[in-house]
Amino acid sequence: MLLETALERTFLAIKPDGVQRGLVGEIIRRFETKGFTLVGLKFMSVSKELAEQHYDVHRERPFFAGLVEFITSGPVVAMVWEGEGVVASARKIIGATNPLTSEPGTIRGDFGINIGRNLIHGSDAIETAQREIKLWFKDDELVSWTPHLTPWLKE
Ligand code: RTP
Ligand code: MG
Repeated sequence: MLLETALERTFLAIKPDGVQRGLVGEIIRRFETKGFTLVGLKFMSVSKELAEQHYDVHRERPFFAGLVEFITSGPVVAMVWEGEGVVASARKIIGATNPLTSEPGTIRGDFGINIGRNLIHGSDAIETAQREIKLWFKDDELVSWTPHLTPWLKE
C-alpha cells in the first residue's frame, strides 16, 4: 500500500471551550467529511510550558497571559490532519480569529461570539504546522495510512 508521507500536514487543537460545549464530534466531522486524513489524535491537559511554547509568537501581546490561562483551563483535543493544501484549507474551515466576523459556515462563524472563546486552533502556515506538530506529538504518535476512499476523493 502506498504511504503518502510527503503530503502536507497541519496541527489543529479543539480548545477547552469546544470540549466543554460538546462540539468535539461536530468539529472533527468537518475535517473528516471534507476529505482530509486524520494522522494524530489525543485528548489531553495542556501544561503551562506547552501553552507558552505554542503561543510563543504572542508572548509580548497583552492577551498572552489570559490565552495561556484559558488553554490550560481544561482538556483539549490535539490533532494532526493530512492532505493537499490542508494548512490553508483548515484555516478557511475554522474561520477568522474573531467569531463575530467569521463567515457563517465556518466553525467559529457557526459556534462562537467572542475572540477569547473561538473553539479551535489551526496552524497558520506550513512552517508553523511543522513546528507545532513537533511540539505536540512524538513521531510514534503519528500514523501514516492511505484511506480506502482516496480514489473517490482524488482523480
Ligand atoms: P489560533 O492561533 O488560536 O488558531 O488563532 P488565530 O491564528 O486565528 O489568531 P492569533 O492571532 O494566532 O491569536 C491566537 C489566539 O489569541 C486570542 N486572541 N485574543 N483579545 C485579543 O485581542 C486576542 N487576539 C487574539 C484568540 O483566542 C486567538 O485564537
Ligand atoms: Mg494563530
